[in-house]
Amino acid sequence: MTTPVRDALPDGVPPLTGDVLAIRGGRPLRGRVDVKGAKNLATKAMVATLLGDTASTLRDVPAISDVAVVRSLLEVHGVRVTEGDEPGSLTFDPSDVESAHFEEIDAHAGASRIPILFCGPLLHRLGQAFIPDLGGCRIGDRPIDFHLDALRKFGATVEKLPSGIRLSTGGTRLHGANIHLPYPSVGATEQVLLTAVRAEGVTELRNAAIEPEIMDLIAVLQKMGAIISYEPNRVILIEGVEKLRGYDHRSIFDRNEAASWASAALATDGEIFVGGAKQQEMLTFLNVFRKAGGWFDIQEDGILFRREGELKPVVVETDVHPGFMTDWQQPLVVALTQAEGRSIVHETVYENRLGFTDALVKMGADIVVHPRGLQAGPRRVPRRDLEQAAVITGPTPLRGADIVVPDLRGGYSHVIAALTAEGESKVSGVDILNRGYEKFLAKLDALGADFDVLR
Ligand code: EPU
Repeated sequence: MTTPVRDALPDGVPPLTGDVLAIRGGRPLRGRVDVKGAKNLATKAMVATLLGDTASTLRDVPAISDVAVVRSLLEVHGVRVTEGDEPGSLTFDPSDVESAHFEEIDAHAGASRIPILFCGPLLHRLGQAFIPDLGGCRIGDRPIDFHLDALRKFGATVEKLPSGIRLSTGGTRLHGANIHLPYPSVGATEQVLLTAVRAEGVTELRNAAIEPEIMDLIAVLQKMGAIISYEPNRVILIEGVEKLRGYDHRSIFDRNEAASWASAALATDGEIFVGGAKQQEMLTFLNVFRKAGGWFDIQEDGILFRREGELKPVVVETDVHPGFMTDWQQPLVVALTQAEGRSIVHETVYENRLGFTDALVKMGADIVVHPRGLQAGPRRVPRRDLEQAAVITGPTPLRGADIVVPDLRGGYSHVIAALTAEGESKVSGVDILNRGYEKFLAKLDALGADFDVLR
């Protein structure tokens, strides 16, 4: 590596755009990386700080741009954010929460999907909220109808404007509600939790998402004084309370990042120790990893991943927890291009999460995407209308190519494909990886990847 690596994001500063990586492949990734708190918990726990009367401390916060966006949005609403008492911890003081100016909020439009979760907390604190147009990865339509329907059930009025969404309590306290989600959406479940905890009365949420990050958010809210019980069959009961206090919490580890590095070890025939990874939250991933020819050793402070012999084809259906996460499939697909035989990946959560395979095909992979899924064969997950399936036939040597990163997990996969390929690739738009992978380039460097940053 010759060019200095730019991936430590100063607090609140959005990353530069347009970086290109020149990657020379064919070298196995070997070494150790450490994963911090989960993007998909830390950002939500940060929003929860708005609900407390006193300051909260979150530990193991990853230095990623999604965290920077949420921090900045909290700050424009009057939350004072300071460094905590150990590296990677942040303290949030919500004593002076206030309405923000439209321009300040609008500056965050398109930057992240998390702002939709500000609705309930801001309604409780201020009686009104304005949420800018959302961003996030372009992996499907990503509607917010479940969120808005739930907020209406709590008694909020919701007005859709060209620039965003305006919400109001109409001067009365939000009340508990009976909510049945049409699909166990992660975001909508969080929306209900963050709103119900301070609503008057009991909320019963059916068909809730039960991802480990949701359970960790429930733990955060319980520390704040909330009363939340979890019943069988995806039912969550929330008894609203009038006041909540701050919390002190260490975030659950980022199992998406851990699975990404595991697949990178598999694809490049390397060996990666992922510090901070834990077995319990990754059981489903580890089963598939093993079936695909992976070997792992669960240790006290992390998990060691590598291949065991030849890679083998697998059939995977993405699903809500405890199924195989949609975020795990893209890096795994890169490894499956090197497996002997035909693998199938059914994507059942998002309608556009196989777009990244175009670049792999350009690099020499044999991947056919069936836009309406595959009808035949026994299935565990019931078919959804938006389903797609990728049939990957291997092994196919990959060769370097010029590719553009489409989204967070797809982008990670492109970088891993380039590291697996013969020759040089130019991968552009890699700044998007800052959304979810802390110090990504430094980690690649530590694992022995051969690359330069071009500007
Ligand atoms: N959906 C609706 N209406 C809604 C909400 C969701 O139809 O109002 C649909 C979505 O279109 C999708 C499905 O429900 O087809 C699942 O969406 P969900 O709400 O569960 O996803 P999310 O909350 O938007 C989070 C993570 C994603 C992760 C999914 C699934 C965050 C910020 N994002 O998204 O993470 O893939 O859950 O586990 O927590 C990533 O980390 O790269 C990422 C995309």
